[in-house]
Amino acid sequence: MKVAVIGGNGQLGRDVGSAFTDEGHAVTSLTHQEIEVSSLASVRESIEGLRPELVVNTSAFHHVEKCDADPAHAFAINGIGARNLAQITREMGATLMHISTDYVFDGLKNSPYTEEDAPGPLNVYGNTKLSGELFVRSINPRHFIIRTSAIYGENPCRAKGGLNFVELMLKLSTERKELRVVDDEFVTPTPATQIAQQLVALSRSSDYGLYHATAEGSCSWFEFAAAIFAITKTKIRLEPARPGEFPVKVARPKYSVLENQALKRRSLNVFTHWKDGLESYLARRAQSASLISA
Ligand SMILES: NC(=O)c1ccc[n+]([C@@H]2O[C@H](COP(=O)([O-])OP(=O)(O)OC[C@H]3O[C@@H](n4cnc5c(N)ncnc54)[C@H](OP(=O)(O)O)[C@@H]3O)[C@@H](O)[C@H]2O)c1
Repeated sequence: MKVAVIGGNGQLGRDVGSAFTDEGHAVTSLTHQEIEVSSLASVRESIEGLRPELVVNTSAFHHVEKCDADPAHAFAINGIGARNLAQITREMGATLMHISTDYVFDGLKNSPYTEEDAPGPLNVYGNTKLSGELFVRSINPRHFIIRTSAIYGENPCRAKGGLNFVELMLKLSTERKELRVVDDEFVTPTPATQIAQQLVALSRSSDYGLYHATAEGSCSWFEFAAAIFAITKTKIRLEPARPGEFPVKVARPKYSVLENQALKRRSLNVFTHWKDGLESYLARRAQSASLISA
C-alpha cells in the first residue's frame, strides 16, 4: 500500500512510519513544513500527487493549556484539519486513520470507557479533538478513529517540549532527592510502538469505525512513576502530591482509562499490559545507553 503519515516527525508519527515501512508498505512521512492541515489547499497539494491508499493523521495541536488559550487555533488544526483530510481522502477513495484522545471523556466514570460511552470533553483540547472525530465520521466512510492515551516513546513529543513522562522522571531523579507526583489522575501509559503496530494490524481490516487503543490496565501518574523507579532500581523518595499541591489551570479528566472493546471483539487487539510495555521501553533504553558508552 501507499501510505502517507501526517505529523511524520512527531512522537507517534515516526513510529507509525517505521511500522508500515517494516511491513513492506511505501510510506511518505509529511512534516508540518510539508503540509498545513488547517488549509484545504495545502492538504490537497501535499497529498493528491502521492495517491496514497491510506492516510494516517497523527498531527494535532495538543498542548492542553495552549489549546485553552487559543481555541480558534486549536479548532483550526484539530477540527478543520481533520475535516480537510477527511474531504481529500474521500475524494481520492483513500482510507483515513485519525488519531484521537481519551480526553474526549469527562472522567466521571469509575470503570474503563468503551466506544459506546458518550463523550463529554472538559476542555478546549478535548472538544476540538471530538469535533475532528465528528468531521471524519461524517465525511469519509472509509475511516478508522483511534482514541489513545498517555503516549510515550523513543521519539520526543514535539508539542510537549521533547521529554516524555518516563524521561522526565528519570531526569528529575538525578536532580532531586525527593519527588512528589499526583496520585488522583488515572490513565493508561501506552507505548507509541504498540500503537503503531495496532494501526498496521487495523489497516488489514475493512471494519471501519471508532476504536479505543491503549495498553492494558491503568495507573495513577504516581503509580507510573513508582514503576519507572522500581524497574530502573532508581533510589529516590517518591511521595503522592498533597491535594492541590500542583494547581491546574485547565480541567482534565480524573479517570480516562479506555477499554479496547472494539479491537477485542474483532480479535485485533495487540496491546500488552502497561507494565510490560514500560519494561520493554526501559530495556531498549538501557541497551542503547550501553551501546553509546561502549
Ligand atoms: N502525547 C500524548 O500523550 C497523547 C495522548 C492521547 C492522544 N494523543 C494524540 O496522538 C497524536 C500524536 O501525538 P504525538 O505525541 O505524536 O505529538 P507530537 O510529537 O507533538 O506530534 C504532532 C505532529 O503534528 C505536527 N503538526 C502540528 N500541527 C500541525 C499542522 N497544523 N499541520 C501539520 N502538522 C502539524 C507536528 O509538527 P510540528 O511540531 O513541527 O508543529 C508534529 O510533527 C495527536 O493526535 C494527539 O492528539 C497524544
